[in-house]
Parts: sequence; structure tokens; C-alpha cells
Amino acid sequence: MNRPIGVIDSGVGGLTVAKEMMRQLPKETIYYVGDTARCPYGPRLPGEVRKFTWEMTRFLERYDMKMLVIACNTATAVVLDEIKREMPIPVVGVIQPGARAAIKQTKNRHIAVLGTIGTVKSGAYEKAIKATDSSIDIYPIACPDFVPLVESGEYRSPRAKQIVSRTLEPLKKTPVDTVILGCTHYPLLEPIIADYMGADASVISSGDETARGVSAILEFNEMLSENERPEHRFFTTGSTNSFYSIASDWLGDLDLNIKKIQLA
Ligand code: DGL
Repeated sequence: MNRPIGVIDSGVGGLTVAKEMMRQLPKETIYYVGDTARCPYGPRLPGEVRKFTWEMTRFLERYDMKMLVIACNTATAVVLDEIKREMPIPVVGVIQPGARAAIKQTKNRHIAVLGTIGTVKSGAYEKAIKATDSSIDIYPIACPDFVPLVESGEYRSPRAKQIVSRTLEPLKKTPVDTVILGCTHYPLLEPIIADYMGADASVISSGDETARGVSAILEFNEMLSENERPEHRFFTTGSTNSFYSIASDWLGDLDLNIKKIQLA
């Protein structure tokens, strides 16, 4: 089934998930929406996140997508269950896969969750992890400065290093051996985060496990694509130039089809 898979995020963060999907499922076509003009979602009220996420979903509906990936933790925490119930196609989020990957990884059962204010407040990772193993200790840290760093393309800068060390300092006094990047923007800061946490801590992003989940659902439902040359499309509500510079850097592809859209 060669219909596209929709991938949505508040900005460029979901590209970290899309990249894994392109790697694991190279025949699938991805239609990506990044609501860059209204990013970040993290500090917004749940009602607003819900409305914006539905707008991205409705936008992609016109392209007859066969599946939707909510590649944003903040949106997953607020509205995944509702969109899943109401859409006639499979819909997946990124929190369950991230939690699953961390549970597999931890040896001492002390897991840190880095996320936006919204994701941390929602307690969604705690719920997902404790539902599987209630003996795990969780250390949530809100990192409100990380998303603006990524969206402005400063994710390799000395300033990024400073902000990461300042934000993660409280973790140095804990026994955590596993750190979940509970926001899809954070994998762009992964080298700096991993360096700060040191070799004893594993850093987990949800992209890999999410892509595996997508693959399993498509296979189970006999919906896999056979297209040898999928043509991905990217839609942003913000500047196509800034989107292009981050997307081409991250995906290693200079020939991207990016279009500016309005959602509201
Ligand atoms: N990439 C998003 C997430 O995973 C959104 C961050 C934001 O817009 O604040 O939570």
C-alpha cells in the first residue's frame, strides 16, 4: 500500500523519528508537518496543544495517509488517545516506545526523563514506565531551553553545552544509568547530552523503537509499501529556509521538497 505515512511535530523535532523511519522502512513515503511558527508546544496549555495537533492531523488527512505518527512527546501526552479513537487509521505516539526502550536498557532501575514542561507535568512517562515495572525510580527534568536551541540551529554551539550542563546538573547526584530523551528535538543535542552524562549512562531516543513499532503495525495489517522511490514531502508553518537548513543537515539530503503552509 503506497499511501504516505503522516508524521507530525511542533517543529523540526519529529525529523529525528522520520529519519529512523526512512532508515528502517526505505520504501515508505513520509509526509511531514512541522508547526514551526507555533513552536514550542512545551509551555502551552493542553487545550492549545490539542487544537494544534488536530489541525496538523486534519491537514494531512487530505493526502489520504495510511497511518499517523505523532512524533512529538508533548502532543502524544495530551491527545494521542483521542486521535487514536477518532481516526480510522493506525495512530502511534512516541512515549510508549521511548519508555519501552529505556526499560530494556536500564540495569539499576534508575531512569531520568528529559522533556518539555508539558510532558514532564503530564507524568506520561512515569505512567508508561510504572505500568510495566513499578520498581523503577524516575527522575524527571524539564528542559525548556533545549527546543529553542534546536529550532534556532544552535545545537552544536558552546551555548548549547552550557545550557545542557546547567540543566542536567541535578542528575549528577543521582544513580541514573539511563536517560530518556523525552522530546523528539533532543536527539539533535544527543552528543552534548551523552558527553555530559558520561560513559556510565545510556541515552535513549524514541525514534528507533517508534520506527520498529510502525514497521510491525504495517506488516501485521499488510500495509507495507513496495515503492522503490518514495517521494517525501515536508510542510512547515514557519520559514522554509530555517527548516531546510536543519532538515538537510539532519537527514543528510539536500534535495528536500519543503512547502510553507498555514494551519489555523
Ligand atoms: N518535539 C516536541 C516534543 O517531543 C515538542 C517540543 C516543543 O514544541 O516544545 O515534545
